[in-house]
This record gives sequence, structure tokens and C-alpha cells, in this order.
Amino acid sequence: MRSLYLLATLLLNQRAAIALSLSTTELVEQLFLDFTIDEVVQNDTRGFPIVEPWASEYVNATQEGRFGDAVWARYHISGDVDSSTGIIEGTNLTVLQSIEEDALGYRSSEPELYANALLFYGNTSKTDSHTDIIDLFTTIAQQTPEEAQESLNKRVTYGIKCSTGNLAYKSSCLSLLQNMSQSRSNIGNIRRIYTYSSCNLRVGPYHGSYTDLSYYTAHSVARLIEDQCTYCPACTNNLRVSGYSPKNSGHRKVCLSSKRTGCSP
Ligand SMILES: *[C@@H]1O[C@H](CO)[C@@H](O)[C@H](O)[C@H]1NC(C)=O
Ligand SMILES: *[C@@H]1O[C@H](CO)[C@@H](O)[C@H](O)[C@H]1NC(C)=O
Ligand SMILES: *[C@@H]1O[C@H](CO)[C@@H](O)[C@H](O)[C@H]1NC(C)=O
Ligand SMILES: *[C@@H]1O[C@H](CO)[C@@H](O)[C@H](O)[C@H]1NC(C)=O
Ligand SMILES: *[C@@H]1O[C@H](CO)[C@@H](O)[C@H](O)[C@H]1NC(C)=O
Repeated sequence: MRSLYLLATLLLNQRAAIALSLSTTELVEQLFLDFTIDEVVQNDTRGFPIVEPWASEYVNATQEGRFGDAVWARYHISGDVDSSTGIIEGTNLTVLQSIEEDALGYRSSEPELYANALLFYGNTSKTDSHTDIIDLFTTIAQQTPEEAQESLNKRVTYGIKCSTGNLAYKSSCLSLLQNMSQSRSNIGNIRRIYTYSSCNLRVGPYHGSYTDLSYYTAHSVARLIEDQCTYCPACTNNLRVSGYSPKNSGHRKVCLSSKRTGCSP
């Protein structure tokens, strides 16, 4: 029974794959999709644990050309993501942060493969529900390999802290992220970076260019805060966001919340 089912699944999978002319026995993309379809369908992963529903989603999304969804499934496939916090067990990283970390590493150390991957992901289906991942790949591609390495070195020091007060609506913060400047120029002598409805992005006091940061970096940090510090108060309500990245010797403080004043050092 089980083998008949498996055979049927295999045939179905092969048909779908032929439609997209993707191999079921080879990696369709080297960097982020490191299981073949057959390995997942046959649960033959040489000891690597894979769990449902992510195993099926990996296969479905790959074969349907939803490559952002496929990457999302890949980062969940071993079942070690905490469903309430979104953090991967044994790390302090959310799934998106983990994808970002890996992408920065590849951009820095494998620029040619990264460029190929970008073309591949650019082909993703219109029904892909994780085009945020594709956008992330595109944004990282705009950094030089050296800048990507620098971001990788720096991001570990951002140490995002979440707050439970001054909660802004997540939807406002997402619009803020979309609308704010992402220029490489330094922020300089200002405290208010951008406001969108309930959501405010502010920075600590200016101490000269040495500890300043660019709009580009403030945007990346704000995205990490948004990703890591989302709450669902009483869970009857819209999602909210509040958090900050403390100042350190390399950069001033960055605050993303509903608060319209402050962001003290
Ligand atoms: C693969 O096999 C392991 C060990 O038998 C099992 O625990 C796991 O649930 C299986 N995964 C899938 C996706 O079927
Ligand atoms: C994968 O696709 C099959 C066939 O369309 C469907 O039955 C199954 O629910 C899908 N699995 C997931 C996890 O989306
Ligand atoms: C995660 O963060 C906690 C508290 O900030 C820290 O004690 C721990 O070492 C961190 N773990 C990893 C794997 O970075
Ligand atoms: C993108 O899709 C087109 C049409 O299916 C295909 O010819 C091309 O090889 C794909 N590009 C990549 C990089 O996969
Ligand atoms: C945000 O950007 C959109 C499109 O670029 C624009 O229509 C909208 O007015 C902007 N909102 C604010 C508050 O700047």
C-alpha cells in the first residue's frame, strides 16, 4: 500500500517536475535548496531529519516554481523552529534572519553562485507567498561581497531587544519599511528617521560620524526589529511591534515603536 502510494507520488511528482523541467534527482538550486525532490519524497536524507508539513511543502513549492516558499519550507524542514517565537532552536535567529545570514555569507564568499541563484529566484511564480525572501536576496545582491561580509560581521552586534510597551501596529511598521530611505548616506544630525502612522523609527543622539549609521543600515536594523519583535497582544488584535537595538561602540541606538520621543542612549 505504502509503496504503491509512493510510486503514485513519484509519478505525479515527475509529471509536475517535467512541466517545469526541473530535475527530481539533482539540486535545482545549489545555495538554499539543498535537498533533491526525490530525497524528500523518499525520506532518504542520510540522517537529516525532515518533518511534515514542510517536507511536502518543499516538494510542492519547488515543483510549482514557488521558490520563496520552497526556501521558507527548507528552513523549517527539520522541525526545529519554535512556532510561537519563530526562532530556530539552538540559535537566536528567526527563520528570516537565518536566511539573511546565509545569503550574506554566500554573497560574500560565492559571488558567482549568488548571481546565478538570483536569476533562478527571479523566475519565481506569481503565486509565491514568500517574495519577501526573493526581495531580501535582491537587496543583498546590491552589496559588494566586501560590504556583505561587513554586514555579516556587524549584524551579530545589533543585539535586538524587544519591548512590551509602546507597541506600534505591524502594518504601519511594514509601510514605514517600504517608504523610508534606504540610501547609503549617513543619517547625520537628526533623531527622527521616519514615521508612518503609529510606527516611529528614531535614532539615539548624534555623536559625530564615527558612530553614525546609514539609512541603509537603519532600514536593515528596523527590519530585524520588525521581524523579531512582533507581538499579538491577547491575540484577538492586530499584530504589534516594539523594539530597539542598543548603541555600542560602532553605531548609535535605533528604536522602532509607537513612541514619538526619546530613544535614549
Ligand atoms: C522520515 O523518517 C523518519 C524516521 O522514520 C520519520 O521520523 C519522519 O517523520 C519521516 N519524515 C517524513 C517527512 O515522512
Ligand atoms: C502538496 O500538494 C498535494 C497535491 O496537490 C496536496 O495534497 C498537499 O496538501 C500539499 N501539501 C502541502 C504541505 O501543501
Ligand atoms: C542567545 O541570547 C542569549 C541572551 O541574549 C545569550 O545568553 C545566548 O548565549 C545566545 N545564544 C546564542 C546561540 O547566540
Ligand atoms: C527562468 O525561466 C525560463 C522559462 O521557464 C527558463 O528558460 C530559464 O532558464 C529560467 N532561468 C533560470 C535562471 O532558471
Ligand atoms: C509611501 O509610498 C507610497 C508609494 O510610494 C505613497 O503613495 C505614499 O504616499 C507614501 N506614504 C507616506 C506616508 O509617505
